[in-house]
Amino acid sequence: MTTTEPLDVQPTALALLLLGREADPRSERGVECPGDLPAPSDPDLVARARAAKARLGDRVFVLGHHYQRDEVIEFADVTGDSFKLARDAAARPQAEFIVFCGVHFMAESADILTSDDQRVILPDLAAGCSMADMATAEQVAECWDVLAEAGVADVTVPVAYMNSSADIKAFTGRHGGTICTSSNARRALEWAFGQRPAGGGKVLFLPDQHLGRNTAVREMGYSLEDCVVYNPHKPNGGLSAGQLRAAKMILWRGHCSVHGRFSLESVEDVRARIPGVNVLVHPECRNEVVAAADLVGSTEYIIKALDAAPAGSSWAIGTELNLVRRLAKAHPDKQIVFLDKTVCFCSTMNRIDLPHLVWTLESLADGKVVNRITVDPETERFARRALEQMLALP
Ligand code: 13P
Ligand code: SF4
Repeated sequence: MTTTEPLDVQPTALALLLLGREADPRSERGVECPGDLPAPSDPDLVARARAAKARLGDRVFVLGHHYQRDEVIEFADVTGDSFKLARDAAARPQAEFIVFCGVHFMAESADILTSDDQRVILPDLAAGCSMADMATAEQVAECWDVLAEAGVADVTVPVAYMNSSADIKAFTGRHGGTICTSSNARRALEWAFGQRPAGGGKVLFLPDQHLGRNTAVREMGYSLEDCVVYNPHKPNGGLSAGQLRAAKMILWRGHCSVHGRFSLESVEDVRARIPGVNVLVHPECRNEVVAAADLVGSTEYIIKALDAAPAGSSWAIGTELNLVRRLAKAHPDKQIVFLDKTVCFCSTMNRIDLPHLVWTLESLADGKVVNRITVDPETERFARRALEQMLALP
């Protein structure tokens, strides 16, 4: 049967997100870029970006995360992992504009760590992070109530991965915790366990269960049984009071949609294809992948390991594809392959492209501040406390 009745179908939040329109109230990011962007086919984009950056001079400082596209990285004054970029942003008080080529939570952190008269700009407001979206302020507040009910909130220290919204960072600061990144997660956990009475302390690690588990189990000698997973979509997180009391690590049920795709099969497959290959993965990968790898570390660690590797060695890298491709190009004397056969860019990191960067730089040079990222003062106060605790880690 056919019908001529119009279908009353409203686009879902996800469809709007993909179309780059309107707002998704469940997301830590915006979803639209209100600019008149140059066409991606414009042959003058590189020259326009250069000219606009030159017009701005020292007034602008461009930060580029390692997962950014080559066309964007070319214009970065510094590149780094999220820890290095947070420090670099804080160490540049003379720059009027910090253009953050990365994702929303990184730009928020930069705004928190810079002075009030510095303006942090994200070239595309839709560059969010699906992992950061997996922990909302309401869910985390509810989790804390569950811990209080089980009688363990007093002995629990929150440790939040940098990949979280400013609200989650503020929650962490309010409850005496710290932020961490993939390059200092072990130091953050050691500090956190040292904050509570000997033997009785626990950590609530959010939002990446994998980084929390991998750091505790692989680097600190905790067992998988010491870890429980709090699922915000289940009553009481899906855990009994007894399970919460027995756990050392309470892991939030979040993950990275890029690193979560690497599997044990990808490791076995590459070992069969390339004899003697070194498997090097990011700690956001699943525990069985990390356990099967030869080396594990943050993006900055991965870059340094390849710099130090002997010519002729073979490497399979489990992290975002823009970085792996750049590393393969930079080291023609080594065999560097992507760990998984299916292509795997981070789609939100990739939203920052040359047209968005040109539009941003030209707008700033013309005196128009676009896509400014600001965190409200109350959130900023407590989030800064947690970020400064991270920067002060031994
Ligand atoms: P790092 O920059 O800390 O290595 O984290 C990787 C990542 O997923 C950033 O979003
Ligand atoms: Fe988020 Fe993963 Fe992309 Fe990093 S790589 S921004 S954690 S989705």
